[in-house]
Amino acid sequence: MTVLVAYATRHGATAGIAERIAETLTAEGAPAEARPVDEVADVGPYDAVVLGAAAYMYHWLKPATAFAKRHRSELAARPVWLFSSGPTGTDVVDAKGNDVLVASRPKEFEQLPATLGSRGEQVFFGAYDKDAPPIGLAEKMAARMPAAARGAIPSGDFRDWDAIDAWAREIAAELAAG
Ligand SMILES: Cc1cc2nc3c(=O)[nH]c(=O)nc-3n(C[C@H](O)[C@H](O)[C@H](O)COP(=O)(O)O)c2cc1C
Repeated sequence: MTVLVAYATRHGATAGIAERIAETLTAEGAPAEARPVDEVADVGPYDAVVLGAAAYMYHWLKPATAFAKRHRSELAARPVWLFSSGPTGTDVVDAKGNDVLVASRPKEFEQLPATLGSRGEQVFFGAYDKDAPPIGLAEKMAARMPAAARGAIPSGDFRDWDAIDAWAREIAAELAAG
């Protein structure tokens, strides 16, 4: 049994979550390896897949969605779990009174679970460093805006390692149960 933890990241926070999930799965008796989606040519050798990406502007990063489409039939034939990284900050409820993690569910999670028949999904708090060099056109343009206009995204590492470990242990238990 080998589990693939495939991920798409822009600044590395999601890579850290994927690596932690793989470590915890392995420690729980489900050997796993974390790999960027673009480095996985074939899902065939894996018995189960955990697929995750960072959310930007309400959407999963495109390479993860493309991976899900490209390998749709192989994924549908295996146990699959999905996760998303983001939001940032310490608020657990937003201004409208909604659970921040529920409100941060990427748009792709409306269709993807049904398409892949995935067994579960999770949104985790992420990390954002306001001083990191911008990546991509949108971030480069945003970096030129006044600080007040950019301040809406809390800067810091808000990844909840306990929640990440707990979810990985749930997956390991489901895999052990068959
Ligand atoms: C410009 C920008 C837009 C973002 N949009 C969202 C969003 O729509 N939903 C969300 O939950 N998080 C959002 N985030 C937070 C990121 O998803 C979070 O920082 C994530 O952990 C980054 O992962 P990465 O380092 O793997 O790219 C945004 C961050 C930035 C900088």
